[in-house]
Amino acid sequence: MAAAATVTAPSRALLLMVSLALLTAAGATAALSTKYYNKRCPALQPAVRSAVARAVAADPGAGAALLRLFFHDCFVNGCDASVLLDGDGGEKGAGPNAGSLRGYEVVDAAKAAAEAACPGAASCADVLALAARDAVSLLGGPSWSVRLGRLDARAASRDAADASLPGPGSGLPSLVAAFRAKGLSARDMTALSGAHTVGRARCATFRARAGAGAAPGEAINATFAAQLRGACGADGAAVAPLDAVTPDAFDNGYFRALVERRGLLHSDQELFSGGSQDALVRRYARDGAAFAADFARAMVRMGNLAPAPGTPLEVRVNCRRPN
Ligand code: HEM
Repeated sequence: MAAAATVTAPSRALLLMVSLALLTAAGATAALSTKYYNKRCPALQPAVRSAVARAVAADPGAGAALLRLFFHDCFVNGCDASVLLDGDGGEKGAGPNAGSLRGYEVVDAAKAAAEAACPGAASCADVLALAARDAVSLLGGPSWSVRLGRLDARAASRDAADASLPGPGSGLPSLVAAFRAKGLSARDMTALSGAHTVGRARCATFRARAGAGAAPGEAINATFAAQLRGACGADGAAVAPLDAVTPDAFDNGYFRALVERRGLLHSDQELFSGGSQDALVRRYARDGAAFAADFARAMVRMGNLAPAPGTPLEVRVNCRRPN
């Protein structure tokens, strides 16, 4: 008590400054831990999982949406939930995201469940990391321990999203470079691309590969290309499954499709096109357990991507806006 009484007004201000300074990237994200919420909010993980399970039971596509949201969050200024912020100039308006990224309302539901369990405790970035893991395991994929303790950004940058996210027309060297720029290896890139074992893509993203405008020598199975052209018609907004074999199951069907030259996106097929990743794709195609183990490890590594030092951070109450 005596000690508390000696805290003067200036020293209180100093303490406040010090604690605010700690809520920047350097202090806040250094020590992600699987035990972060053990005392702070033991009910967090079950709360998030039930919200995700409800959404995936109603629509398996919700699981794919959550997984992609996490990738698009982590690749743009680290895993800081910046992708969830509404507003002009934010990441939601970036080329790879606008009219395409989905599942925001599922994150809202998971965050509401987290707030009900422990008000103000869990960041949107952690809720999204848990939701992505739960989505994968609910769709039949691997599970892993999520390292936690992320904080949320107060701002989002459309330009950063446009600059950081690889596009579906990318060749293998630029895919490798985009992941290398985030400290992830070519092997991580190939394993993480296995996320395309679930979910859908709009015709606009693969029409050129399947159609008359295909690049000379585009590696595509002719029957598959004809099917895609039929499915798309004139409508660029129609969708096709990224994994035609088992569209809603998280398995290694994506890699089997690549070996048969039935990858949906040009960037998918680039992983099996006579280049450095062919052997790994063949391995994942015949050994689902090897893919599952590598995917889980790579998701942990992607989840470690941190905001730049000095970024102002907080635990947002509403994932769509800063506090
Ligand atoms: C390697 C580079 C990648 C490229 C070029 C790429 C590109 C794309 C494109 C163009 C779509 C379809 C979007 C649309 O039509 O609206 C898509 C969907 C998807 N991507 Fe990727 N992606 C990549 C890596 C990843 C990674 C690393 C993950 C997750 C770990 C991921 C998860 C997904 C999922 C789950 C979907 C389906 C989403 C849904 O159904 O809503 N992608 N991706």
